Amino acid sequence: MSESDLRAALARELPGVRADLERLVRIPGIAFEGFDHAHVERSAAAVAELLRDCGLEVRIVRSGGQPAVIGTKAAPPDAPTVLLYAHHDVQPVGDLSLWESDPFEPVERDGRLYGRGAADDKAGIMAHIAALRAFGDSLPVGIVLFIEGEEEYGSDSLVRLLAEHRDEITSDVIVIADSTNWDIGMPALTTSLRGIVNCFVEVRMLEHAVHSGMFGGAVPDALTALARLIATLHDDAGNVAVDGLVSRGGAPVDYPEDRFRVEAGLAEGVQFIGTDRITDRLWTKPALAVLGIDAPATGEAPNALVPSAKAKLSLRLAPGDDPKRAYAALRAHLGAHAPWGAQVSVTLEHDGDPCRIDASGPMFDAARSAFRAAWDGTDPVDIGIGGSIPFIATFQEMFPRAAILVTGVEDPYARAHGPNESLHLGEFARVCLAEALLLRNVAAAGRD
Ligand code: BES
Ligand code: MN
Repeated sequence: MSESDLRAALARELPGVRADLERLVRIPGIAFEGFDHAHVERSAAAVAELLRDCGLEVRIVRSGGQPAVIGTKAAPPDAPTVLLYAHHDVQPVGDLSLWESDPFEPVERDGRLYGRGAADDKAGIMAHIAALRAFGDSLPVGIVLFIEGEEEYGSDSLVRLLAEHRDEITSDVIVIADSTNWDIGMPALTTSLRGIVNCFVEVRMLEHAVHSGMFGGAVPDALTALARLIATLHDDAGNVAVDGLVSRGGAPVDYPEDRFRVEAGLAEGVQFIGTDRITDRLWTKPALAVLGIDAPATGEAPNALVPSAKAKLSLRLAPGDDPKRAYAALRAHLGAHAPWGAQVSVTLEHDGDPCRIDASGPMFDAARSAFRAAWDGTDPVDIGIGGSIPFIATFQEMFPRAAILVTGVEDPYARAHGPNESLHLGEFARVCLAEALLLRNVAAAGRD
């Protein structure tokens, strides 16, 4: 199909794509423990139905975890096969009072569609489907749609699923629609992602709580000890102070600080942390954050010394680092910096590999020219992201010859994982067109 035919087809399909996206957003499929996984099942079933309607052969599969959906259509003779990945599970919504509208009732405001998963990553699913619908019966490539059901919960069973279904999913090109674009009106191809080590650190100082007046001054409390331990994790400039982590510069582009300040929502007067360029800090250096603390809530805290306290730490790893080695380095640091003889125990929650993609060759050219056309002549920027998609490293190992194109529907204002997540509908239309053009270009490149 020609570019103009595809444009026309997508213009026709877009209202239906939007309606189906809204249907998916209404399903609160959260794979985290403690949530009702019946919704994840419903979500998988809804995705399966959408894929069947595209004429794919569809299976719902699982391997001890949440259901994934695989849809396949054989390639025309001599044409390449493209695997299209997205995930149908979403993050929990957190404090509902911070949402301006119901997270599971999609609504449009100022050209954006609000709702949990409206961007991350149900719009990724619908971008794949939009491209298939645009081609109708004349798809120029073979297709494997792989829609995962537990990405936000660490993809625990994904490696097994990929291994068990290896033959069905083997493909020449892999499109992972779970990243972000550079700005409104500026597409991006993601070429590096950070890894992750999430762990818990518990500090024990006392066998039981004691009166803070009778004992305070001589006896240390666990929250103060934990605060001091946490304070050793960064140097004064805010760089991660754990020895033995990979850290480098050399990001291909810089981020304008003023823009980044607004996107991040930094409060008045608050400084950035770390040194080097913003993009180095986000993409090629480690980051460490405290995600939560278990300790008495302030409203109920008695005048007593807290015997033990626990924090959840999240370490992001630079491309080139190794999660096992990094976790050992972090454990060693926490043990060595225990204040006042504190008993420190560290347990791993989950980890994931970083990755780097060599974005050269005909399939990357095919993607770049599709992006350029969909954004009316604007070239895509090669970016890293600070977030993690750990199984990309698994895809790289399993399918070393496949080109991996990391695309996405997000933009810097999408607030994925936060309250008021949203999708920019104008950009989404471009993402859908870009994906259709990409399939067409990949087919042409595969014939060369
Ligand atoms: N879509 C994100 C990855 C991402 C983050 C893309 C930032 C673009 C910008 C993905 O769904 C995600 O959140 N991944 C988790 C991985 C974790 C659960 C192992 C993350 O980065 O926290
Ligand atoms: Mn995602």
